[in-house]
Amino acid sequence: MTVTTTTQSERLIDLDDLTPLIETTTSADPAAVYERLRARWGNVAPVLLEPGVPAWLVLGHRELVTVLRNESLFARDSRNWGLLADGTVRPDSGVGGILAPRDGIYYVDGVRHRHLRRLIDDAFEGIDEHRLATIVEQWCGVALDRLLAEGEADLVNDYARAVPLLVMSTMFGLDAEQSRAMLGHAQRVFQAKGAAGGAALNAQRALIADLIASRRAEPSDDLTSAILRHPSAPTDLDAQSAVSATLILGSEFEVAWITQALRLRLTDPRFDGRAGGRLSASDTLAAALGSTPPATNTGPRFVLADTTLGGRKIWAGDAVVPGILGASAESRGSSDDIWLESGHLSYLTWGAGPHACPARRPATVIAQVAVGEALRRLGGVTLTVPPETLRATGTLWSSVPRELPVRFEAQHPAR
Ligand code: HEM
Repeated sequence: MTVTTTTQSERLIDLDDLTPLIETTTSADPAAVYERLRARWGNVAPVLLEPGVPAWLVLGHRELVTVLRNESLFARDSRNWGLLADGTVRPDSGVGGILAPRDGIYYVDGVRHRHLRRLIDDAFEGIDEHRLATIVEQWCGVALDRLLAEGEADLVNDYARAVPLLVMSTMFGLDAEQSRAMLGHAQRVFQAKGAAGGAALNAQRALIADLIASRRAEPSDDLTSAILRHPSAPTDLDAQSAVSATLILGSEFEVAWITQALRLRLTDPRFDGRAGGRLSASDTLAAALGSTPPATNTGPRFVLADTTLGGRKIWAGDAVVPGILGASAESRGSSDDIWLESGHLSYLTWGAGPHACPARRPATVIAQVAVGEALRRLGGVTLTVPPETLRATGTLWSSVPRELPVRFEAQHPAR
């Protein structure tokens, strides 16, 4: 028998009626959006990053691993993006502002990436996890004391959006007041559009530049000093790139993980201790990783030469978005993929290849303590709205419940 496979070769600009990528993070059922895309297009589907800006979304496990592990064909550097080069995407517009080329670990490949990556890996390697857990407990305590005094809270905006950035700011060496300022700037970047967002981003960068200057003059026991002390003798610019990428961009997925775990706990009886269940904060976090991976999609790669992927021709200059949720969903139902033999597939939730998350350990400590402390201190915490009315808000990369309004039945003092 002869098996023939056809490669589909339409170009992105020739395809109409495309699904906006943001539907994969804001829909009540992101997995269903992925399934619809797969049914219509196969494992590599055209989507819109914003109106008029198409890209490929990779939905298949095998294709995802191929893209993530092969930076000599699928590069991070957006100078290789056709739509940016031909002016379709302006560097100061919505998606252009996020993806325009810059000197940061998420944006570069090869030697420059490895240099910045080593600074971060080696600094994270030295993290004392007990000290980290204590810092998380302290910041959770500050947030929860305030919520307990009020008797009710929105666990997304009053808690989960604050804790990870405050913790990472402290780990990098900002004092409490500076950490709060960093959070305030981040909230303005998140909410503001145009000039106000730019001003807040500049304020974040200035805070980091001051931190680097001060640790250069007087090293201390924090991640910024560890980066500056690195044997590869990083410049201030290297340190600025490493610190800002990790501090500013790193916590989005963390917020998604904590909020999705709290949502499960509040809406799914299997995770509710009062119903006789015994699932811990870590069990809940593990379940959230499997069902709603914190990184639904990750940052696009830009194709360096014409190639085929999932039976589709991909052209040099196209943008390709690795879809982590799609690969996890596919792997639950398929069996002939060698990568599946490694067992539990939520490992892809942390990415793969040279850009895989360097913060897996500290991210897990932060999430465990943040979810554990909320459940411990808030006692019998109940959602005040019907679960089916909860909506998701999202960036192109991750899905976060818009709010989790709760009240508490019992109040536990700090230890
Ligand atoms: C404190 C929390 C976190 C920090 C500081 C952090 C930091 C980072 C950094 C710096 C990168 C870029 C690595 C590189 O390009 O070489 C990265 C990538 C990534 N992180 Fe994290 N991360 C955090 C939490 C998480 C969580 C909770 C998840 C999901 C479970 C996650 C999933 C990923 C993924 C999938 C990538 C790969 C992106 C890609 O290949 O495009 N991260 N993270």
